[in-house]
Amino acid sequence: MKKSDIKALIDQMTLEEKVSLLTGANAWSTVEIPRLGIPSINLSDGPHGLRRCDGLGWGESVPATCFPPAVLLACSFDEELAKKQGMALGEEAQAQDVQIVLGPANNIKRSPLGGRCFEYCSEDPVLSGHISAGVIDGIQSKKVGTALKHFACNSQETERFVINEIIDERALREIYLASFEYPVKKAKPTSVMCAYNKVNGDYCSQHKWLLTDVLRNEWGFKGFVMSDWGAVDNRAQGVYAGLELEMPGTGEENKRELINAVNGERVSMHSADPKFKNKLTVFQINKAVMRLLEVVFALHEKKNGKLCDYSKHHKTAVEIARESMVLLKNNGVLPIKGGKTAVIGEMAVNPRYQGGGSSYVNAINVTKPLDAMSEYGEVEYAQGYSLDDDKDFDKINDAVKLAAGCDRAVIICGLPLSYESEGYDRTHMDLPENQLRLIDEVVRKQPNTVIVLCNGSPVAMPFVGKVNGILEAYLGGEGAGEAIADLLYGKVNPCGKLAESFPQYLEHNPSYGNFPGENGKVCYSEGIYVGYRWYEKHNIPTLFPFGFGLSYTAFRYDEIELSETEAGENDEITVTVTLSNTGDMDGKEIVQLYVKENSPRVSRPVKELKGFKKIWIKAGESEKVTFTLDRRCFAYWDDEIHDWRVDGGKFTVLVGGSSDNCPLSACVDIKAKEYFRPLTVHTTYSELKFHPKRESFIKEILSITGEEFKETLDNQPSDWPLRTMVSMCSTKITLANLVDIIDDINGK
Ligand code: BGC
Repeated sequence: MKKSDIKALIDQMTLEEKVSLLTGANAWSTVEIPRLGIPSINLSDGPHGLRRCDGLGWGESVPATCFPPAVLLACSFDEELAKKQGMALGEEAQAQDVQIVLGPANNIKRSPLGGRCFEYCSEDPVLSGHISAGVIDGIQSKKVGTALKHFACNSQETERFVINEIIDERALREIYLASFEYPVKKAKPTSVMCAYNKVNGDYCSQHKWLLTDVLRNEWGFKGFVMSDWGAVDNRAQGVYAGLELEMPGTGEENKRELINAVNGERVSMHSADPKFKNKLTVFQINKAVMRLLEVVFALHEKKNGKLCDYSKHHKTAVEIARESMVLLKNNGVLPIKGGKTAVIGEMAVNPRYQGGGSSYVNAINVTKPLDAMSEYGEVEYAQGYSLDDDKDFDKINDAVKLAAGCDRAVIICGLPLSYESEGYDRTHMDLPENQLRLIDEVVRKQPNTVIVLCNGSPVAMPFVGKVNGILEAYLGGEGAGEAIADLLYGKVNPCGKLAESFPQYLEHNPSYGNFPGENGKVCYSEGIYVGYRWYEKHNIPTLFPFGFGLSYTAFRYDEIELSETEAGENDEITVTVTLSNTGDMDGKEIVQLYVKENSPRVSRPVKELKGFKKIWIKAGESEKVTFTLDRRCFAYWDDEIHDWRVDGGKFTVLVGGSSDNCPLSACVDIKAKEYFRPLTVHTTYSELKFHPKRESFIKEILSITGEEFKETLDNQPSDWPLRTMVSMCSTKITLANLVDIIDDINGK
């Protein structure tokens, strides 16, 4: 429907009808107004599978394909693969009469303890942004809408409805918002879901700076913003700030708030922004209704009800899992060749493949690792541990006996479902005690042991040096069993890489001591130093670094070439490298490009990911891989000018297969516009020395004091601010003179 037709409809609506549209009809759909032909649309979770609730409430959901959660998908480092997952999700949404899929979830992983880390992609905003953009592109290509969530900074579950996240401007821009910026600009989601928490004092559901100034005005977002379920605090302020749809519906209560705000009657004053005077105009309500209806009509018109092929989607789920699982260690034990394998661990028959909470999918076809492995070779199973009781050690003996009599043992273990879920954070990174003891005892009798980990977030690995192989399978979706078997037996060559660092100890994590906060607030005191940015800056070794992952083949990097060795800050630079598969198995490599500023003026990470490409190469062959770098790849956020800034100087471009292994590097000299802070009475004499306004400033001062003051000026201590010339030099300058001169020079 055309904008003008929607406008005509809005003109015919009563105020009651308008505000009724701005709150959900129930938990999963928008309000319809039959008299005006306004349809309702259906919304459904979630990021990695449809959770279409039967009926209007919170009941069991309709069976659907459970794709790998974002924690695993992101390890593919493959935007196209993410798109493929999105396309399948879009098809299922069409088949289930869902018009908006509530995802992707795109928050940055600040702490491995975060309860929803399994739903989020990465600690790095470039990787996270690209994966989410792929998912959005895929879903929307099937004419289904998306809700990019949770905007912004939902980094923890503890007190998630009320916690105040205190974050400096630079960290917000470079890390937490950057993760949303790329998908908003590139993939244009039909909607964005605001987070529960506060950011720097304001609830995200009524945060004008976030929802309007940044999201709409800076990034050009054109869809509508919906609340997370129950995130609305002050409804009228929400509309003022840019929150169009409240979910789920709250019925009369908040409709009345909006009507009162328009009619100038009493509305709730709690947590109100002083700039918002508790008054809304009809124009503001109309604008919100317009933004919502544009999406509602567009998506309703594109409903096609087409049935979808769930068995094809299962294969897609397996493919994504295979492309993403990460081989962390291999002392020649993998791929498995011949002999008999002891498969140990309840997760081999009762797999852990998704996380708990609103993203929980009623999966159609869950494959068990044990069944899938038995298709490849001789296997025998022992339970080894119980998932229900961490302190049950009774199953260890049988497992050890079995392992000792086989050629190798594969222990499938990880975090039980109750360990990680939406709604609460973990308090430690340990596997259950019975699993750790099992691993210890099995390894003593069977050194040829492989650990397959099923977890939604990093775990401690006290066994890392004792076992011969580790496959990080994360949460692999319903096809995890097949993917694990395909990788262990070498049908497929592992090619996933870690989208997050695994710390050696929780205490090494940058958020340690400031997670999950106290007294209602949490301070992100690590600033921009999240994940590898922190470990590298502080030289802290990790258990496994960001971007790390092994293959059954070997890759060699050579010949890095830059299109320019000197460039302007706005020039594009092309980087070309040669990648060779020097092993004897075809395989895929994730080529990662990092940028480092050699002598930064401000504190900057050692290096930052700016590009990545997944390349398939036949054994013995080579490929050229090309990247393009733009201004943003060299920029940082300057919180004085409130903008992206590039400082001229030398930058190193590093390319390799992991953040800790970049064999190629080349230098580029970037010429950038020089920035100077405006002169103020607080400018120090040392800053003045190199300031472009220095000459005119001194001239003005001397015109009042006389030339003889020049020498005194030149000899002022370099760390003194200019205002000291009034009190310390007993000149003829008054503070008012100084302020006038400075204002004049700054052009005020
Ligand atoms: C979650 C959202 C989810 C919504 C609807 C909320 O609790 O935070 O991610 O989309 O519920 O289920």
